[in-house]
Formats: sequence, C-alpha cells, structure tokens
Amino acid sequence: MKKSDVIKTLLNHRYVYTENTSGSAFAPANIALCKYWGKRDIELNLPVTSSLSVSLGEKGAHTTVSLINASEDKIRINEEDITLDTQIAKRLIEFLDLFRSNTEMHFAIDTKINIPMSAGLASSACSFAALIQALDQLFSWQLDRINLSILARLGSGSACRSLWDGFVKWHAGKEEDGMDSFAELLPYEWPHLCVGLLVISDQPKPISSREAMQKTVNTSCYYKSWPEKVKTDLEVLQEAIASRDFDLFGSVAESNALAMHASMLTANPPILYWLPETVAMMHQIWKKRAEGLPIYFTQDAGPNLKLLFLKTDIEQVKKTFPEIKIIMPFEKH
Ligand code: DP6
Repeated sequence: MKKSDVIKTLLNHRYVYTENTSGSAFAPANIALCKYWGKRDIELNLPVTSSLSVSLGEKGAHTTVSLINASEDKIRINEEDITLDTQIAKRLIEFLDLFRSNTEMHFAIDTKINIPMSAGLASSACSFAALIQALDQLFSWQLDRINLSILARLGSGSACRSLWDGFVKWHAGKEEDGMDSFAELLPYEWPHLCVGLLVISDQPKPISSREAMQKTVNTSCYYKSWPEKVKTDLEVLQEAIASRDFDLFGSVAESNALAMHASMLTANPPILYWLPETVAMMHQIWKKRAEGLPIYFTQDAGPNLKLLFLKTDIEQVKKTFPEIKIIMPFEKH
C-alpha cells in the first residue's frame, strides 16, 4: 500500500480545486509517555504498538502554507529560508507531493516553532501536524481531526498525536491501509502536571529516530518483549492519569523510556543516545527521588531528558536543576 492510496481514499477528489491561496494552523509539540518505537509498515508509518503522549500546550509550530507562482517550493523555518536539499526540507516536500494536483503546483511553507529546537523535542511532529491542518484550510477539505491525524502520520508517525492538546493516544490499528491507526484525545486533564526540559546537548544526533527504530526492530533480541511491555504500560498509565496517581504515572513513563533505550542498546550495531551527562542527570534524579522529591524522567531519541513533576514541587525542582525549562501542558493561555 502506498501513501498515495491513503490520500485517494481519504480525499477522493476534494483537493483538486481551491479558491483559497493560503491556510494557517498551530499544532503543539508532544512528548510520549509510552513510546512509539517500531513500525509494522515503513511506508505508512504504521506502528507495532499504540502509544500515549502529552501535548505541550502553546509550545509548538505555527505554520502557514500558501500556493505560489514559482518553479519550486519555498520553506522558511523561524524566519530562515531552508535549502531544499536539507533533510527536513526533503521530508516536507515529499509530504507536499502527496497533495499536488499537478506538477506545476508549488507551495511556500512558513513555520515558526516556539520550542527550543535544541531541547531534543520532536519538532517534526508539530511541524507535520500544523502543516496538515494548514493544508486542510487551504484546500477546504474539512476533514475531522481523526482523519487529519491519519494524514499527519504519513509525514511522521508521532505527528498524529500533535493534533490535540492534552493526553493523546495513538491506536496502533491492524488494517493494512492504516485507516484504524489514528490518534485520539483522552478525556483527562491534569492541571498541576509539569514537564521540564533538561538540555544536555544541542548537537545533531548521530542517528535519526526513524533509522534507530528500524535497526532496533530488525536486530535487537529484546525488541520481542517491547509490545508486551507497552501493553501493560499503556493500561497502567491510563489508570494513573485517570486517578491522578503521580508516582504511578511517573514510574511507568520512566520505565517505558528506559525499556525503549534498552531495546536500542541491544541492537546490532548498538544504539546509545546517552551521554555521560545524561547518566549523571539520571543519578541526580534518582537521588532526589530517594530523598522524597517526586520527580521522574522520560527520554526520546537523543541525550536530553524531560522531567515529570507536579506544580507543588516547582521551586525545589528549579533549585536542583537551575537550567530547566518548565512547561505546564494544561495551563490555560
Ligand atoms: C522516540 O515519529 O520521529 O520520539 O514515524 O519515522 O517519523 P517517524 O518517527 P518519529 O519517532 C518518534 C520516536 C520517539 C517516541 C515517540 O515520540 O513516541
């Protein structure tokens, strides 16, 4: 099954004609508390397991997409023109290709991302999620969010979770065409929940998450146990969220991230995103926790850590990690 088949199914002929010249949208960044790690279909970014994330409120991407009279697309990120042969530009153009009704049709994308790009946050997730909503506006498709999440997934898997604020679950689905692999808002809020970004390195990562997860699936002897781990973690995490049991919530999120990294470590060749400072920081978190501070971490495909704690502990957390950037995902703005 090709991406273009999914587009045909979802859009039919809706995208052939538009009177609009541009569309704009915002999408928040998201952090997975139970990770997406491994695909059952590489072309369609269909995951092996479901996953669960929290969106980062007003931190994310504002995107405007316009139709332009030009011989090629134009991409601007944070007021900077991006050369079209860069990795991010290639991925965006390949995504736009899915929606061109003819080869003469060209787009300008103007994106402003207000999260620290160096913080190891998946900026591609919010970029694709904002872009698909901007395209929906431009072409007046009027698709619902569930279907938009299916389209965003074609750009980057984790992007399908950036269509909503709050806690979001991405259902793995079973169908070959992925029509049952969409994200959905969970009906819970947690106003006191804080996410702290601890930037350990802003250097480009040695291997992309896309490549790393594929290598893990193909070569790690521990990957077999990952789906079972996710099944339990998802259940417990949802219970913890529903009952606002912070220690349960934090410990499952931390354990899930560590299990994902353990699966990478046993890939061949091994993949280790951790730096000595990452490990030092983990020890500091565990020490503080043993002393009574309820603080946990999660980590994605990079050396930086994202701390999880409650509003009541902000001052203590700031004292321990003065360089931390704090986000309150449920704070109304
Ligand atoms: C570790 O969504 O970036 O952040 O689907 O290949 O674009 P592609 O991968 P991507 O992977 C994210 C991996 C992760 C975990 C997560 O966000 O669930």
